[in-house]
Amino acid sequence: MRAALLLCGLLAALAGVTQRAAAADGAAVYLQNCLMCHQSGGAGLAGQFPRLAGRVAAIGAKPAARGYLVQVVIHGMSGNITVDGRAIMGMMPGFAQIPDADVASLLNYLTTLGKQPRKPPAPFSAEEVQAVRSGGARSATEVHALRESLGIAKIAP
Ligand code: HEC
Repeated sequence: MRAALLLCGLLAALAGVTQRAAAADGAAVYLQNCLMCHQSGGAGLAGQFPRLAGRVAAIGAKPAARGYLVQVVIHGMSGNITVDGRAIMGMMPGFAQIPDADVASLLNYLTTLGKQPRKPPAPFSAEEVQAVRSGGARSATEVHALRESLGIAKIAP
């Protein structure tokens, strides 16, 4: 009986390890960290939280703009933006604690939502996220400046 219990414990611990090693499901990461603001299916809330459906796909399809998506998730953003014709004076917290592979799954999930661009975005990988992350910390206001310089307002209005 003791041995059986011990074995059960060991198996449960092993299952935990394999689970942690694999990338989390992007939809699950979204549910846990982003849903409360960006709403179900990335629909957003006009004037408060930007819609992500269709817009992340459009941004992700532009090679030069992909790093911006990673930066927003890791460092958050602070500054005025206009989305769907409504001004947002928002502040998004950063999620530096989400591991590279999970940020990649999360962005891959977001690119499936909404209208797809003619040329679909290449999948995000943990390596791509790692490369952006190791580029050094940015503040939430610097991420906003990056948004301006990349012309995200034109890519995903
Ligand atoms: C507390 C609310 C909140 C949470 C939680 C949140 N966001 Fe945001 N997000 C915002 C706000 C507000 C903005 C706009 C910030 C600004 O105006 O500078 C934003 C902006 C963004 C943008 C940029 C959109 C654009 O038009 O450039 C992306 C991408 C994004 N969020 C993704 C995510 C993801 C992915 C998560 C979960 C890991 C998340 N957000 C969690 C509030 C939130």
